[in-house]
Amino acid sequence: MKKLIIVANWKCNPTTLKEAKVFFHSLKSQLEKSVNILKNVKVVICPPFVYLPYFQKLALKSTIFFLGAQDCFWEEKGAFTGEISPLMLKDLACQYVILGHSERRQLLNETNEMIGKKLEAVLRAKLKPILCIGETAKERKKGVTFKVLKEQLKKTLRNFSIPKSFSLEIIFAYEPVWAIGTGKPCQPKEAKEVLLFLKKFLKKGKILYGGSVNSKNAPDYIKIGFDGLLVGSASLIAKEFVQIVKNAVFSLKKF
Ligand code: PGA
Repeated sequence: MKKLIIVANWKCNPTTLKEAKVFFHSLKSQLEKSVNILKNVKVVICPPFVYLPYFQKLALKSTIFFLGAQDCFWEEKGAFTGEISPLMLKDLACQYVILGHSERRQLLNETNEMIGKKLEAVLRAKLKPILCIGETAKERKKGVTFKVLKEQLKKTLRNFSIPKSFSLEIIFAYEPVWAIGTGKPCQPKEAKEVLLFLKKFLKKGKILYGGSVNSKNAPDYIKIGFDGLLVGSASLIAKEFVQIVKNAVFSLKKF
């Protein structure tokens, strides 16, 4: 049976380390009660950078979760004020890095070229990138979803010879921008069309779905063939997140 990847993207939350600790320990104790399902899923927690040192020790000895970051820079070190390098993340026991999230593309003007450089740096550091791609509502209405996704992938992976030889370590996350944080998830039928297109185009690599995932709709995406989920808002409610993990694994067992 395949092993799912379920990523908790805490984004810029919570505002204090104390809250982060309290939340995490509640989440951990609830996950520990479901150890039997954890052999079928990798749970990746991506807190804000500043909380990573706290999670480092816990991650090193944990069989419950893996640690991830929400972004990183493309250089290893040097005069890059405010940036965090992949090597720093590795030192803090991070194994995964989210790249190209639509909030960074839209609010911070991250381009496919910049994301491509980050991708290479993350792979060089032997971390696992989770590369986010997705179309806006306007693009979907115009009927150019596949064109947009293809362009995002081609420009980001320009130094990899697509589809043959890019690393198996890249995890892709299809996150339609209009579904993120809106409570309006992509319908399974539409998501499946995209999944089939991506599988054909990429040939390799795991593909996750993200965008208004909750415990009710989580199984839909697993049933149609996604390899896991990228969860935002619902990952900040311990009970709901654990239920997402359980329901996703349970639906996998049925197929
Ligand atoms: P959401 O966020 O689950 O709140 O829609 C998903 C994401 O931004 O990765």
